[in-house]
Amino acid sequence: MKEAQFGFLYMPVLSGSSGRDLAISLAGILGMNSIVIESRKFPDGEGYVRVPSESFDEIRSEPVILVSNTFPDSGIMRTILMLEAINDIRRGDLENYKGEGEQRLEHVGPGVFLAIPYYGYARQDKRFSPGETISARVISEILGKICDGMVILDLHEPKVLDDCDFPVKFVSSMPEIAERLKDEVDPDFILSPDKGAIDRASEVASIGGWEFSYLEKTRIDAHTIEHQAKDLDVEDKVVAIVDDMISTGGTICRASDALRRQGAKSVYAACTHGLFTGGALSRLASHVDGVYTTDSLRNPRSVVSSAPALARGLRELMD
Ligand code: R5P
Repeated sequence: MKEAQFGFLYMPVLSGSSGRDLAISLAGILGMNSIVIESRKFPDGEGYVRVPSESFDEIRSEPVILVSNTFPDSGIMRTILMLEAINDIRRGDLENYKGEGEQRLEHVGPGVFLAIPYYGYARQDKRFSPGETISARVISEILGKICDGMVILDLHEPKVLDDCDFPVKFVSSMPEIAERLKDEVDPDFILSPDKGAIDRASEVASIGGWEFSYLEKTRIDAHTIEHQAKDLDVEDKVVAIVDDMISTGGTICRASDALRRQGAKSVYAACTHGLFTGGALSRLASHVDGVYTTDSLRNPRSVVSSAPALARGLRELMD
């Protein structure tokens, strides 16, 4: 017998095929059903989605959650198409070319919530040069118009959505990352590789009761970063570097070099979003002793579930 959450019994968690495993975990935590939306690509690369007709009643009877990333670019389009397919069903707009099933039903009202494990375009959170657009805001403005609220996991800079006019909850997987590090690494010291990661990394340090410090980073270009020299008390210590995301791996590799120069015994890296672009994993393999990420993005190092964090946000959003 399923346990009712939020006063609803059959509330479904929907996803495309790439978010299926996470949606199943989330549905399990929330005591809900999971439904996979069919999604594929046409030969020219355009996306196609279709909600299975046997789930229409379920989608119309309770509020629903859609789990979907805004990454890569095709993920943004897929998220929009899936939200609109769900909205059509809830609006009762079921007219179809073949005239199959009911054509029009009553609008069942608002109740479509979006859970975004990895929010793509998060790092363009400012107009760094004239003429740029603030991409992180553009994404939220599009999605905010077609859902009734969203939960975003470890958004690079939540301030960028300060002025949004729809409900949004920011959640973090740092508690689950701290638990994993405690079980598998047992670090002495947590390092934030730049000022932007201080809040997250220091949260991990305080959960585990570990020492903490941070570096100051300058990004020269997408592939080159520099850290300001700083004395760190890491001689003979096990250190974990904690960040929100790893892309090229440059930030982690340079921070690890600084730690090793200062006598760290071993160095690990942990983050929420493991993008691992352009050979990052093999670069990291020669700099750190292990890498841990959540499953917000599929990658060979995703060992921490992001479902508990998303569930926390959804409970807050819907309560
Ligand atoms: C930037 O401030 C982020 O928090 C990460 O530190 C950054 O995106 C990591 O990128 P990369 O792995 O390419 O150095």
